[in-house]
Amino acid sequence: MDNSSLLGLKPAMGWNSWNTFTWDINEQLIRDVADRFVSEGYKDAGYEYIVIDDCWSLKERDAEGNLVPDPKKFPSGMKALANYIHSKGLKFGMYSCVGTHTCAGFPGSFEHEFQDAQLFAEWGVDYLKYDYCFKPRNISGELLYKRMSLALKNCGRDILFSACNWGADNVYDWIRESGAHMYRSTGDIQDNWDSIKNIAISQLDKGSYTGSFCHNDMDMLVVGMYGGSNNDFIGSKIGGCSDNEYKTHFSLWSMMGSPLMIGCDIRNANQVTKDILLNPELIAINQDTEGRGAYRIKPEPQWFHSDDVFMLVKVLTDGDLAIGFFNLSDTQREISLLFWDLGLPSATGYSLELYDCWEHKELGTFKERFSPVVPAHDCLVVRAKLVK
Ligand code: GLA
Repeated sequence: MDNSSLLGLKPAMGWNSWNTFTWDINEQLIRDVADRFVSEGYKDAGYEYIVIDDCWSLKERDAEGNLVPDPKKFPSGMKALANYIHSKGLKFGMYSCVGTHTCAGFPGSFEHEFQDAQLFAEWGVDYLKYDYCFKPRNISGELLYKRMSLALKNCGRDILFSACNWGADNVYDWIRESGAHMYRSTGDIQDNWDSIKNIAISQLDKGSYTGSFCHNDMDMLVVGMYGGSNNDFIGSKIGGCSDNEYKTHFSLWSMMGSPLMIGCDIRNANQVTKDILLNPELIAINQDTEGRGAYRIKPEPQWFHSDDVFMLVKVLTDGDLAIGFFNLSDTQREISLLFWDLGLPSATGYSLELYDCWEHKELGTFKERFSPVVPAHDCLVVRAKLVK
């Protein structure tokens, strides 16, 4: 298999400027993030894309109709920035939009798709996030994603296509066929618990709509932001979660196969944030080769639990199972798993050897059932091995 055919095989991992910085971006920030990726272990953990979101260009195209990087923010230009990122062994992402304008009012790629794809290729772009604002109403979004997908696939460079239409217009029905490698399935995340919880619950039964080469993107991570956004909507007024909530957020996104795009300011990340974002066991579950979605099991007794208490199970390539016990409710719960519900009746003679992916330790070997007590807003994620 040649390398290009592997583009998008696994959920993308990287960093995106939007959650923390929105409009306040510049080339030094992007270079600093690239440096931190290398010096603080993000690159070694698998994070590779550094993505500039909205607000990078001037408000007008040039005389040839090309997009122009804002010279105040990016005085050395995008090619130089791409070269710098590539020199660190990392990949460079940029942002545009289906419509006439981006969500923040900069020029969008509508009717400039092939021209813009060519320009991104010349700059050395490896990833394009493609938003959904200012779309003329008489043309379908489906068609516009297909158009940019074709433009990217024929621009002479491997560019990962990250669609962002927030789950609108029955995106699940057509996005894989469009050629996109990942697609946003929900509205914008906010740095608070309700937002994390609502996004996760809304995607619980969408496990069959994610997988290799077209991943369900549940939006950028808010892990480690603690309210530190310059944007009121994302979090500066309403923001911040506890460390356990961030841990649960990362566990949900990892188990559900979402791309893992960091949104905090990694230049100031504390140790807890790094321990979450760099957790090798969770990342291995997210990046598992077969890329299967997770299925949900409702805990017993079912009448006792609401939709915010559940287990997620992901079948891994080597025959292990990743199992998450999620308690998104506001009170502590015992979450009971009958192995029968995994396809493992006790008559098979198998037990499960459980490894706790957050405490990084073996929990022991269990027969027939396992019933951890999980605090409110928390979770337990185990890797389970079948043993006789
Ligand atoms: C939309 C997207 C966000 C971000 C902003 C930029 O809201 O969903 O992720 O890209 O636009 O304006």
